[in-house]
Amino acid sequence: MASPPHTSKTLKLERYNSYLRRLHSTKVLNASSKLIFRVTLLIALVLILFFTLNYPPLSDKNPNHAHLHHHNFLSAALFTSSAGGDAWEKQVRHSSTPKKPNGLSVLVTGAAGFVGSHCSIALKKRGDGVLGLDNFNSYYDPSLKRARQKLLLKNQVFIVEGDLNDASLLTKLFDVVPFTHILHLAAQAGVRYAMQNPQSYVSSNIAGFVNLLEVAKAANPQPAIVWASSSSVYGLNTQVPFSELDRTDQPASLYAATKKAGEEIAHTYNHIYGLSLTGLRFFTVYGPWGRPDMAYFFFTKDILQGKPIDVYQTQDKKQVARDFTYIDDVVKGCLGALDTAEKSTGSGGKKKGPAQLRVYNLGNTSPVPVGNLVSILEGLLRTKARKHVIKMPRNGDVPYTHANVTLANRDFGYKPTTDLATGLRKFVKWYVDYYGIQTRAKKDSDINSEHPEESP
Ligand SMILES: NC(=O)c1ccc[n+]([C@@H]2O[C@H](COP(=O)([O-])OP(=O)(O)OC[C@H]3O[C@@H](n4cnc5c(N)ncnc54)[C@H](O)[C@@H]3O)[C@@H](O)[C@H]2O)c1
Ligand SMILES: *[C@@H]1O[C@H](CO)[C@@H](O)[C@H](O)[C@H]1NC(C)=O
Repeated sequence: MASPPHTSKTLKLERYNSYLRRLHSTKVLNASSKLIFRVTLLIALVLILFFTLNYPPLSDKNPNHAHLHHHNFLSAALFTSSAGGDAWEKQVRHSSTPKKPNGLSVLVTGAAGFVGSHCSIALKKRGDGVLGLDNFNSYYDPSLKRARQKLLLKNQVFIVEGDLNDASLLTKLFDVVPFTHILHLAAQAGVRYAMQNPQSYVSSNIAGFVNLLEVAKAANPQPAIVWASSSSVYGLNTQVPFSELDRTDQPASLYAATKKAGEEIAHTYNHIYGLSLTGLRFFTVYGPWGRPDMAYFFFTKDILQGKPIDVYQTQDKKQVARDFTYIDDVVKGCLGALDTAEKSTGSGGKKKGPAQLRVYNLGNTSPVPVGNLVSILEGLLRTKARKHVIKMPRNGDVPYTHANVTLANRDFGYKPTTDLATGLRKFVKWYVDYYGIQTRAKKDSDINSEHPEESP
């Protein structure tokens, strides 16, 4: 087939046309890639917005507050298993229903905390219903709180994630479950941190407590409330051992002042609304699943890492001593207080008659100098501590605590049975196991064979 020979003119035209075609197709390509780019950008923006709203900020100087409400609101709106959904209500009911006849139905606040997790499991194990509440704040490593939450879930205890200050959430919980008791352990703990973040103490220990009491007084039936005060209310008291009748109007830290305020607020709600209220003054509680901000815990960590530890002396060069109380003893005290708590007398926010109001020390009754604590740890960890003895800074710690527990013994048979060496051995065993540490720490078998009477 003969085609007309290309002249240079037709060739140029051809090239020009193909140039135009190419130009056109790149334009289309450009246009469509612009569209794709814009859509991608939009999706990215939406995703970023979603994640920033739904997660707390990474560096949060004020771990307790505002964003937590926000977080809950959003997750409630977006995920059906959060507060309000059918699945959520089912979980709440299932967790708080007692398994034994006449069992308690207890709302445990601070259930992902040290004392709260132990008490929740103990209650559940004896057949009571337990529902947890915790805001999982980052005052100390929240992954430890999550690990405790997992342990509770294994024991059929569900923890609602929320803040004490969330009145509508608390009201909702009481709408779903007629709790017979509240074991109120949620608080901003720690004495030294109060200088860094004073507002967190006011928010959780005062405002949060009042919010809880407001919901409890309006509930029908009103629950009986057992809550954690602290030995720190004795402050600069010099009378030893500390007994409930001693003066508690000289707090040495903001933490102590908020706990003392709690005791006064408890008096008010008991007086006006007939709420049954029992305050427990814990003395330096320690043990497995404990709090990383406490000395026995970070001493263990630092000794294992070969880091120096600060051991405090009093201003007059005496040893600082604490009435260290083992967690199992405290748990028994909490359960004893719950079991002997009388019913609240009010209903629908009105008082019908006088109600029970109590305060108890829960200590070990034998103070141990912090130097002895360190020696016991050195022995258990088979590692010498690099001790750095310094005067205790005047930032709220008291030099000495010692509980008189006559009252708790009389009213619910409280009798601490674990000495510091025994309790610390159990703590260290948990610690090396939980953190998967290969150490010179004595193996379980060594530990058990030393005290064969305690082997499981
Ligand atoms: N452990 C001790 O030696 C000791 C001594 C005296 C008193 N106490 C008191 O006993 C209670 C329990 O102490 P712990 O050692 O188990 O402390 P913890 O910090 O391990 O437990 C408290 C829990 O409450 C939660 N929480 C804090 N503020 C909250 C809020 N606003 N809303 C919801 N949850 C909140 C925290 O996330 C935490 O899981 C606290 O009230 C504490 O002040 C403890
Ligand atoms: C302990 O407290 C009780 C009252 O609760 C009191 O009778 C007793 O004397 C106190 N004991 C000591 C050693 O102070």
